[in-house]
Amino acid sequence: MNPQKIYILGIESSCDDTSAAILCNGKVLSNVVASQKIHEQYGGVVPELASRAHQQNIVPVIDQAIKRANINKEDLNGIAFTRGPGLMGSLLVGTSFAKSLALALDIPLIDVNHMQAHILAHFIDEEDFEKPEFPFLAMTISGGHTQIVKVNQYFDMEVIGQTIDDAVGEAFDKSAKILGLPYPGGPLIDKHAQNGNPKAFPFPKPKVGDLDFSFSGLKTAVLYFIQKKVKENSNFIEENLEDICASLQYTIINILMDKLKKASKQTGIKSIAIGGGVSANSGIRKALKDGEHKYGWKTFIPKFEYTTDNAAMIGIVGYLKYLEKDFTDMSVVAKARIKF
Ligand code: KG4
Ligand code: ZN
Repeated sequence: MNPQKIYILGIESSCDDTSAAILCNGKVLSNVVASQKIHEQYGGVVPELASRAHQQNIVPVIDQAIKRANINKEDLNGIAFTRGPGLMGSLLVGTSFAKSLALALDIPLIDVNHMQAHILAHFIDEEDFEKPEFPFLAMTISGGHTQIVKVNQYFDMEVIGQTIDDAVGEAFDKSAKILGLPYPGGPLIDKHAQNGNPKAFPFPKPKVGDLDFSFSGLKTAVLYFIQKKVKENSNFIEENLEDICASLQYTIINILMDKLKKASKQTGIKSIAIGGGVSANSGIRKALKDGEHKYGWKTFIPKFEYTTDNAAMIGIVGYLKYLEKDFTDMSVVAKARIKF
């Protein structure tokens, strides 16, 4: 075995995506994601069903990842897995599998914080993608979290702002549900917003202190607005879907950008990275890029496949921790809530 080559298997199972990736020295050789379609009919993730689907998917997904990387499992140097935060039943599947495989292969086991992974995904070795220099600000926007993090070093991170209620992904998904769109509605709002007028319907922006966010009021405002309009015209949603989505997306982007501008001003940091599923949103990507000439920012937007939940981001954290020999032992347990 070539000692210069460090092969890490990353395993992600925190929510409703079962994913496995193989990285060699920080470069992705394979990144397999099995998304669970079963939740669509329920309009949200059903934890028990997610856990069961992970159990069905985990072996074939890992098998595929190893095959696509063109290696043997005996080539692996370490196994990294998502310890949390996430759904307990889902985390348990990845954690137990990672522990068993590491034990069987007698290689190091590395625990990974899912939220740190969304940020450190920027350090995956990719052609044409520059890595941020420290310190930088990272805005993690997903279905479960909305945070602004000051990243001083790989594992020295400080949450300087966060949501006090719903996550931004929930604001997208719950609003989409009100509009009768299937789960997860975020990408569909993005799609319908493309041809709509963002100023057609003004939605309220919440008043929350400092760098924190709140999205529950927006969801309620959308509900009341739609109920009122549908009473006046039962075809209101169909006739105005593009404008409603564009207006909603415009409001959400403004909320995010306002806080990001404030965070940059307060910290004096102009390197800004985004991560998490909502960073796939085309409007947010554009607003961030616009910040480059408007505010002199340097922005970092990850490759599309590394924004939503994936194991490559778990693998890169695994590699960085492997270099520091930061391993865990067999007593490690999954944790639904963890801080940085
Ligand atoms: O990071 P992620 O895959 O899972 C969590 O850890 O939550 O994020 C999923 C979230 C969902 O709320 C989904 O609707 C949202 O990301 N999302 C989007 C877009 N693509 C995914 N929201 C808005 N626009 C998109 N293009
Ligand atoms: Zn996530």
